[in-house]
Amino acid sequence: MVIIRQNLLDFVLIMSQFNNQKLKNLEVKFIGKRVIAFNEVKSTNDEIKKHLNEDEGLVIIANSQTQGRGRLGRDWHSPKGTGIYLSALVCPKIKPELFPPITLAAGLATVLALQNFSKSIPYLKWPNDILINDKKVSGILCELCGDAPPSVVIGIGINVNQQIEHFSETLKNTATSLLLENGTEVDREELIVSLITCLDKVYGDFLKNGTKFIAEQWTRHTNLFGKKITLVRGGVVYTGTALRLTEEGKLEIISNEGESLLFDSGEVAYIG
Ligand code: BTN
Repeated sequence: MVIIRQNLLDFVLIMSQFNNQKLKNLEVKFIGKRVIAFNEVKSTNDEIKKHLNEDEGLVIIANSQTQGRGRLGRDWHSPKGTGIYLSALVCPKIKPELFPPITLAAGLATVLALQNFSKSIPYLKWPNDILINDKKVSGILCELCGDAPPSVVIGIGINVNQQIEHFSETLKNTATSLLLENGTEVDREELIVSLITCLDKVYGDFLKNGTKFIAEQWTRHTNLFGKKITLVRGGVVYTGTALRLTEEGKLEIISNEGESLLFDSGEVAYIG
């Protein structure tokens, strides 16, 4: 196996507060071969889209985002020096219908990275939110871009050292940070290094072993199954019990009427 050493490759650090030493020692094969760090951008997902014609593996991180974006057209509040705002570019040579599981792989990589930085166990909530003590600590926005070759932008936001006053009144009830959960600050660079390393490993596993393998690993890091949920998709609300993730990465729920339903997208909320 060829290990590409980060410090032999192009490494750019632009006006950043990140200390490049830790990031320079990355040993990666796919993701993180090149890292660009910015002090401030509108959105790391938008920034990385300027590089769609480049080789896969580019990572862009920023110390803050002025227009951070979340799923379903929401904002992702990205205050300076507190969170992790990271995007990675991948161009897997697979059929476009196999792209959605990349979102699951990104969530799996993030939960694995978070494990070593959280006192409480982080859990995945389908499709790829990460919760600690039932509050959201991380979200992922994957975007399919271009078709020659098709690329996927994986955008990951992690609430790291946010204090409670960094969250809006609405978010205070549903969001958290590692600082709020642990009671102590986390070194963002160490977490970024862990995140990129996990992304690289899990993406490699996905390419080698496919969706079934990722779905199995994903299942080990969720507490979703057996819970009563609502799932909203296309304006329709489905209510039932979350059962399992299929080999294709779809969520199976048993509706309150006893019907088996499969979803490849949607917004899940726990009830009860
Ligand atoms: C969500 O849970 O709604 C997804 C949030 C994704 C936020 C990240 S932060 C880095 C990247 N850049 C963005 O503008 N969004 C993603």
